[in-house]
Amino acid sequence: MPPPRNHSDKLKGSRVLIIGGSIGIGVGLASAVLEFGGHVIISSSSAQRISQAIDRLRSLHPHTRDDDDDAAIIGIPCDLGNFETLTEQITSLFAEIATHLGGPNQLDHVVFTAGDALPIKPLEAFSLPQIQQAGIVRFFAPLVVAQHLRQNLRPTSGSSFTLTTGGVPHHLMKNWSVAQAYLGGIESMARRLAVDLAPVRVNAIGLGPVETELWGGTKEAGLYEEVRARFESKMTTGRVGEVGDVVEAYLYVLRDWNVSGSIIRSHGGTILL
Ligand SMILES: *[C@@H]1O[C@H](CO)[C@@H](O)[C@H](O)[C@H]1NC(C)=O
Ligand SMILES: *[C@@H]1O[C@H](CO)[C@@H](O)[C@H](O)[C@H]1NC(C)=O
Repeated sequence: MPPPRNHSDKLKGSRVLIIGGSIGIGVGLASAVLEFGGHVIISSSSAQRISQAIDRLRSLHPHTRDDDDDAAIIGIPCDLGNFETLTEQITSLFAEIATHLGGPNQLDHVVFTAGDALPIKPLEAFSLPQIQQAGIVRFFAPLVVAQHLRQNLRPTSGSSFTLTTGGVPHHLMKNWSVAQAYLGGIESMARRLAVDLAPVRVNAIGLGPVETELWGGTKEAGLYEEVRARFESKMTTGRVGEVGDVVEAYLYVLRDWNVSGSIIRSHGGTILL
């Protein structure tokens, strides 16, 4: 891409793959990228959720409904939840993207926001297969995605791969060893991938609690108000994050062509308490 004329142009015409793009932070970011004139490819495990997300994005951004701009939003299903088929799923996702975009190395940014419920329970309660399962979506999947990026991202420092991590590394709570082993590992992964994939930039966004669909189970169990109050009592902002706010952290790493190997945190000040 040529250098942008100004800040609001930086994502104009860019092609951004968002893995986990049909709900929560992923679809929030997709909406922001469209607002700045970029094109999005959203991927998630559910074809139905993808088509709901596309409808929502088209109604928020009427320009994407123009006939000559029908490539502004593309949805491609990809199931990251199964260890046995993970490589095959991700390989076919990128093959389909290359077909849509007319060849390899056509993407400007890849953002990984997919995440399943965090496995929080006493250390001894995990079997080894459960420990492995706990890392498939959040840890193994982004590494396998990274293996495909030299063939799919434009090889410049304007391009980027952005990971998502969470939990607050210095916040000590029982029952988090397995979850935090993977979440902390994502921070190391981002730093080392920044070296392996250079000049492409690689960063991770470290989130605290954010109001998303991930809380569905907690809500159904009638526990959400209590859990939220507990989190909020430990946050300097006093409130759980909103998608529209934390999406700014992702936009930042996409647009600062000099940030790489960094962990950007947006967690409502949780670390301070
Ligand atoms: C850890 O999990 C056990 C069993 O579910 C629970 O009794 C305990 O309160 C948890 N500890 C914390 C700090 O959440
Ligand atoms: C970041 O800025 C420094 C200093 O200007 C420069 O040497 C470096 O190449 C830049 N990095 C990227 C990825 O643009």
